[in-house]
Amino acid sequence: MIFTGFHPNIYKKDVHTALSFLFLPWNWFKLKKGNNTFKVENWLQNYFTVKYAITFDSGRTALQKAIEATNIRYGDEVLVQAYTCLVVSNAINWAGGKPIYVDINENFNMNVEDLKNKITEKSKIIIIQHTFGKLADLEKIIQVAKEHNLIVIEDCAHTIGTKYKGKLAGTWGDIGMFSFGTDKVISSSRGGALITNHEKLAEKIMELNKKLPESTTKTILQNLCNFPIFYIGKALYDFLYLGKIALAVAQKIGLTGKIIYKKEKACHKLNFYPAKYPNALAKILLNQFTKLAEMNNHRQEISAIYDKILQADKIKKPQLLQNEILLRYTILIDNPQKFIQIAKKKRIILGNWYDSVIAPADKYLNMPGTGYQEGNCPKAEYLAKKSLNLPINKDITYTQAKMIAELINNNL
Ligand SMILES: Cc1ncc(COP(=O)(O)O)c(C=O)c1O
Repeated sequence: MIFTGFHPNIYKKDVHTALSFLFLPWNWFKLKKGNNTFKVENWLQNYFTVKYAITFDSGRTALQKAIEATNIRYGDEVLVQAYTCLVVSNAINWAGGKPIYVDINENFNMNVEDLKNKITEKSKIIIIQHTFGKLADLEKIIQVAKEHNLIVIEDCAHTIGTKYKGKLAGTWGDIGMFSFGTDKVISSSRGGALITNHEKLAEKIMELNKKLPESTTKTILQNLCNFPIFYIGKALYDFLYLGKIALAVAQKIGLTGKIIYKKEKACHKLNFYPAKYPNALAKILLNQFTKLAEMNNHRQEISAIYDKILQADKIKKPQLLQNEILLRYTILIDNPQKFIQIAKKKRIILGNWYDSVIAPADKYLNMPGTGYQEGNCPKAEYLAKKSLNLPINKDITYTQAKMIAELINNNL
């Protein structure tokens, strides 16, 4: 079985670490506090060569606290692209900001002309999202931000390691935000961080972080359980449906953590976050740091295979800049649902990020609660109906990538 998402970054060592926290009693005292969180922050400081790195329980908390740290006042406007995750709009709303949605280009990133049109005297922040790891138009957006005295937060939930003009994504804005969620570049199941060189912003972020509660024991245990359960569940996924059933049961009885909860989709707050990043998950992230370069290289190699084989006349492929590293290889295609179904029959689960301007789009999505109104961003609405993600994670072999590309070509 080939997966696009579904915890694609798990290594055996991560499973061992998770099991050691779950089953070794002397580790139970180190679930929440310990020096791993500081080690993660140090790693980020060194990797990005920044003065400050502060961890959080998730990217969504990190983003909320980044916005709060700018001393945003109720009703101040935060410019953010449409074609994003619902937790982004929740983070803006919960920080007291008002999301203003900016339309996108065919590279799934913010359209600078629409950005200029949407700036008002209430604008305070621009969030630059590097969707699927494709770099946004950094220089132009930052120029607009400077002209209007706006703070720039770079949402790097989909990228760690891509450089533009020799400078890492995440270090271009005033604050860089990262996610270590299940389907991200590196994962500890849940986790997030902010980086900055601004002393004042950093002080405020650290002050906000200090006030946060520890992550709950239940949340930590659920996210640790994700590692052995997904590792085994995926391996046995279609062996008499054992893995599929095990994963569904684990989810149903609350043994595993979820990426996004029903309540969040209804734009309601949950009681276990915002919170601090737990020591146990930080330990897993330290393992993942050692695999970052390997996973990113692999993503580039698999992207190159798709790029070479996919027929360019009927689909639109990502136009990659030199050294760009994608998280998912996303194409524009008529009727992506058709291809999702065709692939499923061949035991390939393709990805649907983002099938809505604010995703995930299911019956629980409270679109009015996000502040998005139909017609705000027509291009984003159109692209959401055309995008299809192909997997490039570490488990995808060159042969599988060729097979996926040919499957798509043959059904165009
Ligand atoms: C673009 C973007 N920003 C931020 C986040 C939030 O990250 P997290 O899941 O760690 O809260 C996500 C999550 O999927 C995302 O896709």
